[in-house]
Amino acid sequence: MYQKLQLVFNQQLNRLYLPVLLTILDTFGTASIFGSVYYVLLHLIEGQFTSGTLKTTMFILGIGYVIRLLAVGFSQYLFQIRGAMLIRDARLNISNHLKELPLGYFSKESIGTIINTCTVDMTQAERVITHLIGDMLKVTFVTGYILIVSFLVEPKLALIQLILVMLSLPLIVWIGKLGEKGGLQKKVVVSDVLARVMEYIDGIRIFRSYNQTGMAFGRLNESFKRYRDESIHLEVKLVPLNFIFFIIIDFIVPIIFIAGSYMLLAGEIQMEAMVIFIIISLGVSTLFRPFSVLYTEYKVLSVTINHIVSLYEMDTAPYTKETADFPHYEIEFDHVQFAYEKGQPVLRDMSFAMLPNTMTALIGSSGSGKSTILNVLARFWDIDDGAIRIGGQNIQEIKPDALLEQMSIMFQNVYVLNDTILQNIIIGKPNATREEVEQACRRANCHDFIMKLEHGYDTVVGEGGSTLSGGEKQRISLARAFLKDAPIILLDEATASLDPYNEMGITEAVDELVEGKTVVVIAHKLNTIQHADQILLLENGTIRERGTHEELIALNDRYASMYHEQLEAKGWRLQV
Ligand SMILES: Nc1ncnc2c1ncn2[C@@H]1O[C@H](COP(=O)(O)OP(=O)(O)OP(=O)(O)O)[C@@H](O)[C@H]1O
Ligand SMILES: [Mg+2]
Repeated sequence: MYQKLQLVFNQQLNRLYLPVLLTILDTFGTASIFGSVYYVLLHLIEGQFTSGTLKTTMFILGIGYVIRLLAVGFSQYLFQIRGAMLIRDARLNISNHLKELPLGYFSKESIGTIINTCTVDMTQAERVITHLIGDMLKVTFVTGYILIVSFLVEPKLALIQLILVMLSLPLIVWIGKLGEKGGLQKKVVVSDVLARVMEYIDGIRIFRSYNQTGMAFGRLNESFKRYRDESIHLEVKLVPLNFIFFIIIDFIVPIIFIAGSYMLLAGEIQMEAMVIFIIISLGVSTLFRPFSVLYTEYKVLSVTINHIVSLYEMDTAPYTKETADFPHYEIEFDHVQFAYEKGQPVLRDMSFAMLPNTMTALIGSSGSGKSTILNVLARFWDIDDGAIRIGGQNIQEIKPDALLEQMSIMFQNVYVLNDTILQNIIIGKPNATREEVEQACRRANCHDFIMKLEHGYDTVVGEGGSTLSGGEKQRISLARAFLKDAPIILLDEATASLDPYNEMGITEAVDELVEGKTVVVIAHKLNTIQHADQILLLENGTIRERGTHEELIALNDRYASMYHEQLEAKGWRLQV
């Protein structure tokens, strides 16, 4: 557990040593209070309670209280403050780790599991360090002291008391195991609930348009019901066991009373020992009572810690070079094979080169593998066979972050953050000046429409860019890519949602970009890529045709017929 906690909290657990030490000190304070009660009782029973005894008791109590006051105060303060800092760092740590995981992980794993780990699990882990460690230490130490001291008072009764405590231990272990198992099942259900909620919110527009909100809500409701059943199931299993545990613990006092009485009558123990022991056994049963609940909580939370650890143990993309120093920016695909799912190849033995200062256009029918080429080039996924090189260096050797620094990417599915337009664009280059942002926006044909918005660049756009049109989002995303101004530019369907006027402006801007860069564009509209230095026509994960526009027209095959079809479609539209 310690190793796992160290992993989750970035080897920083030593920041908890001081509050742990203070908690142990606090247990001495608590023990001193019991000690003074013992001292007073002893003197009262022996009829020797004098003002001297009172002073000594007051002195012991005073010291005990001061120790407790300082130790409790500081330990709780430190557990809270340092715990919060550890959790903050752990959250940052896990986000960094998520960033480095291959995208394949996110498609395979339920998104609910990831959200669960980053939110619920982390909050529970925070509880472990801010409360649980301290509480468990207190209960264990104080009960331990009293059990030991009770042997000094009366060994036989102490043994009976110890046996009763020991009897409860297997029960605690059993309760803990059930708690752990239930916790595990509950985690699966919680992840499912989160995934369903996401699905419901994400798809609400589609569900509504097909009048299927009932069906979607049904799935969500099912998931909530499973969560409710699982929670009840766990409680129902734990309640009787906890009940038996409480009975054993509550029996300590009466059993000690009965056994003590017999021993007293038989003359085996003194009256003082009997009275004191009843007080001691009251202390043990009260102090030890919360242990089963705390231990169950510890076991349930250990599931949480394991959960977080398993996310850490996911392999990140390997690399040997921290930085990317490419002598030039020629991109080379050398017999590349790739499949998202085993046995379903998406790129088949693909070889081509994209030269610096040129633009390559990828075209082909939907699903032919165009976006996949960009995905593997950016190392969002690693290829299965062959090699991808930039400037002669295999990209598998380079740290993904460093590789991405060399690329400006515009994705097919544009994502806009719930923030101002300025913040949305400046992601591309966080230290950019406002002038640079505006310049990028002019090139991406979005400056004018942004200036017409109520607060211009400071207008806040809704989550996912819900207040912007498809074309506006696309141009914002393009401005982001322009602003980054990296040596490699990858644009996936940059003009898909644009009207002819904007399309022309963007096409010209992209044509200009080629100077000093390697540009890859994916396009469905063939008129936007006619000036490309190279056109690759993909079909089913292979390159079916390659060449310039003129060469492919002359070839008079697939590209030529696609081009003519699009021309005719345009003509038809113009005639209407
Ligand atoms: N994350 C993924 N997991 C599994 N399969 C995927 C994933 N992304 C794409 N695919 C599959 O890989 C194939 C190629 O997809 P890709 O996105 O590269 O096509 P595309 O040429 O960009 O198509 P489009 O023009 O529609 O954007 C498709 O069959 C698709 O279903
Ligand atoms: Mg695509």
